[in-house]
Amino acid sequence: MSTVPLIPDTAPFSAEQRAWLNGFLAGVFSRAPAANSDLRSPISASAALTPLTILFGSQTGTAEGLAKKAAKEAGKRSFAATVLDMAQTDLAKLAAEKNVLVIVSTYGDGEPPDSAKSLHTALASASGTALSSLRFSVCALGDTNYTQFCKCGTDFDHFLGKLGATRVTPRTDCDLDYEEKFNSWLNTTLTALGTGSAPAESKIENQKSKIPDSDPEPTYSKKNPYPALLLTSRNLNAPGSGKQVHHIEFDLANSGLAYEAGDALGVIPHNCPEHVAEVLAALGCDGEEAVPAPDGSTVPLRRALTEFYDLGKPTAELLARCAIPTTVSANSASTTTPASPHHVVDVLLQSKSENPHSKIPTPTELVWLLKRLQPRLYSISSSPHAHTGQVHLTVGAVRYEKDGRPRKGVCSTFLADRAQPGNTRIGVFVHSNKAFRPPASGDTPMIMVGPGTGIAPFRAFLAHRRATGAKGKNWLFFGDQRASTDFLYREELAALMHDGVLTKLDTAFSRDQAEKIYVQQRMLEAAAELYAWLEQGAHFYVCGDASRMAKDVDLALHQVIERAGGKTPEQAAAYVQQLKAAKRYARDVY
Ligand SMILES: Cc1cc2nc3c(=O)[nH]c(=O)nc-3n(C[C@H](O)[C@H](O)[C@H](O)COP(=O)(O)OP(=O)(O)OC[C@H]3O[C@@H](n4cnc5c(N)ncnc54)[C@H](O)[C@@H]3O)c2cc1C
Ligand SMILES: Cc1cc2nc3c(=O)[nH]c(=O)nc-3n(C[C@H](O)[C@H](O)[C@H](O)COP(=O)(O)O)c2cc1C
Repeated sequence: MSTVPLIPDTAPFSAEQRAWLNGFLAGVFSRAPAANSDLRSPISASAALTPLTILFGSQTGTAEGLAKKAAKEAGKRSFAATVLDMAQTDLAKLAAEKNVLVIVSTYGDGEPPDSAKSLHTALASASGTALSSLRFSVCALGDTNYTQFCKCGTDFDHFLGKLGATRVTPRTDCDLDYEEKFNSWLNTTLTALGTGSAPAESKIENQKSKIPDSDPEPTYSKKNPYPALLLTSRNLNAPGSGKQVHHIEFDLANSGLAYEAGDALGVIPHNCPEHVAEVLAALGCDGEEAVPAPDGSTVPLRRALTEFYDLGKPTAELLARCAIPTTVSANSASTTTPASPHHVVDVLLQSKSENPHSKIPTPTELVWLLKRLQPRLYSISSSPHAHTGQVHLTVGAVRYEKDGRPRKGVCSTFLADRAQPGNTRIGVFVHSNKAFRPPASGDTPMIMVGPGTGIAPFRAFLAHRRATGAKGKNWLFFGDQRASTDFLYREELAALMHDGVLTKLDTAFSRDQAEKIYVQQRMLEAAAELYAWLEQGAHFYVCGDASRMAKDVDLALHQVIERAGGKTPEQAAAYVQQLKAAKRYARDVY
C-alpha cells in the first residue's frame, strides 16, 4: 500500500485549490513507482486516500462537467479521484476498479451517448460476476420530455448490478434541472463510499488515471448567466423559404466570458407574452397575483409565467391535479404518453371543458405543478479568434400546428421575434463541449457534415482555421431544402472557397429536383475521395438533426468505408470504432 500525501489545512491555498492539489497528488502517486516514495517527504504524509474512479458518458459535456465537479468534491473528502471517459475503459479495466461513480446521459431514443456506446454494449452482453469487487452508484442524466427518460443510466445501473458489483446508493435520475438531485446523490454516495472503504493502493501500471483538470469555475453559468446585449438577429433565408433560420450575434466585450469553437451557448429564454396571456385567461387571473419564484422570492404571476416556469409539456402532477387521464411510463412518474395534452394551457382548457365543476388550480398551486423554464443550448457559430468580443448562433425558429392551435418554440422564437437587437439583454452562459473541437493540429484534414442549422459549429471551425492560419484541407457537406432560399451563409462559404480555406463544398438541396437528395447521397457519390481523406487522418464531424440525419450519415460513412476501402460490414464497423476511439469521429447532434 502506498500513502498519498495531503496538502495540510494550514498551507496557503483556498479549499478548492487544496482539493485540486490533493487530487493531483493522488493522481501522481497512483501512477508513481514505489521507489519514488521520497517524493512524499516535502509534505507530511498524514492520511490514506480512498481510490475512486468517476466514469462519465457525455454527448454535450454536462455529464463530463458534473464528473469533474464530483472529483473536486471527492478530493475534499480524502478520495483519490480520477475522472475517466467511458470511451477509455472496458470490462477488464472496470473489474480492476474498487469504487466507481457513473454519471451518464441518454441520447437518441433512449440510447447511450457516442462515447458510452462500446462500454454499454460490452456490459449488456457480459455475464458472470466479473465486477464482484466493485462498489458503485449511478447518476443518470436525462430529460422528462423524452419517453425513454434516463434509459442509459438505468441500463448501466442494471448491468453493473447483474455483474456482481455492489450498489452503495440507489441510482438517481436527474431531469434538466439536475443540480439539487446531483448534489444530494453525490453527498450521500461519497459518504457511503467513505464508510469502511479500503485505503488507497498504488496503481503503478495504471495509465488511465486522469486528474480532475484545473479549469477554473466560470464566472457566468447556468445559475448565474451573463446578461449579453443582442447585437443582431437576421433571417438567413430568402423570402419564399419554408424555413426561418436566424443569424444571432451577442456582445461579449468586457464580459470575461470565454469560449472555443465547438462549444455551445446556453440561452435563458422568456415565454411568449401571448402564450402567458392565454394561460392567465384560462386561470381567470390578471397576472398580478403573488406567487413563489423558484428561488423562494415572491413575484407577480405574469412575471413568474414569463421568466421562470415552463408552459410547454405538462407534468404528470399537473395532469393528475386537473384529472386528465394519462398513462405513466415505467421509468418516471413525471413522464407522460404523447397522447397527453401538448402544453400547459391545453390542460387548463381541457379540464375546464371536460369537468366544469372541477376547481382550476390557484396561481400558487399551478406554479408548484410546473417545471422550471430551462435554458436552450445552441452550437456556437463564431470563433473567438475571428469574432473578438462576440458570440454568434444559427437558430432555426420552431413553429408548427398541433391540435388546431399554432405553436412556437420558446427560445428560438424569443430570439427570432421578440428580442430587440441593440436593446434586449439576454442571459447566456458557455456550455463547454471538449469532445467537439477542431483538430489540435492545423494540418489535419477536416470533413464536416452540417445540413441546416448543423452548419453552425463548422462556420466556427472554418473561422478558427482561417484566423489561426491552419493549412489543413477542409471539406463541408451542406444541405437544406432549396438553394435559392436556404443556402445559409452562401457568400461567406464562397469567400472561404475563394481564399482556399474551404477546400471542397458539396451541397444537397432536397427540393431542387424531382427526387429528394440529402447530404448522405453526396457522401456516397464522393466515396473514394472521402475514404482517401480518412486514410490521410481526416477528422469526421457531424452536426444537426439527431433523429434522422445523423443516423443516415453514420450509415453512409460505413458504406463509404465498405465500398471505397474494400471492407466487409464488420471491418467497416471496426474502422468506424477506431475513428471514434481516436476522437476522429465527433457528433454534435440534437
Ligand atoms: C447541444 C445542442 C446544440 C444545439 N444547437 C442548435 C443550433 O445550433 N441551432 C438550433 O436551431 N438549434 C440547436 N439546438 C436545439 C435547441 O437547443 C432547441 O431545442 C431548439 O431551438 C428548440 O427550442 P425552442 O425553445 O425554440 O422550442 P421548445 O419550446 O423547446 O419546443 C420544441 C419542442 O416542440 C415540440 N415540437 C416541435 N415541432 C413539433 C411538431 N411539428 N409537432 C409536435 N411537436 C413539435 C417538440 O416536443 C420539441 O421538443 C441544439 C440543441 C443541443 C442540445
Ligand atoms: C437529441 C437528444 C436526444 C435526447 N434523448 C434523451 C432520451 O431519450 N432520454 C432522456 O432521458 N434524455 C434525453 N436527452 C436529454 C439529455 O440526456 C440531457 O440533456 C443530458 O443532460 C445531456 O447530458 P450530456 O451533455 O452529458 O450529454 C436527449 C437530448 C438530446 C439533445
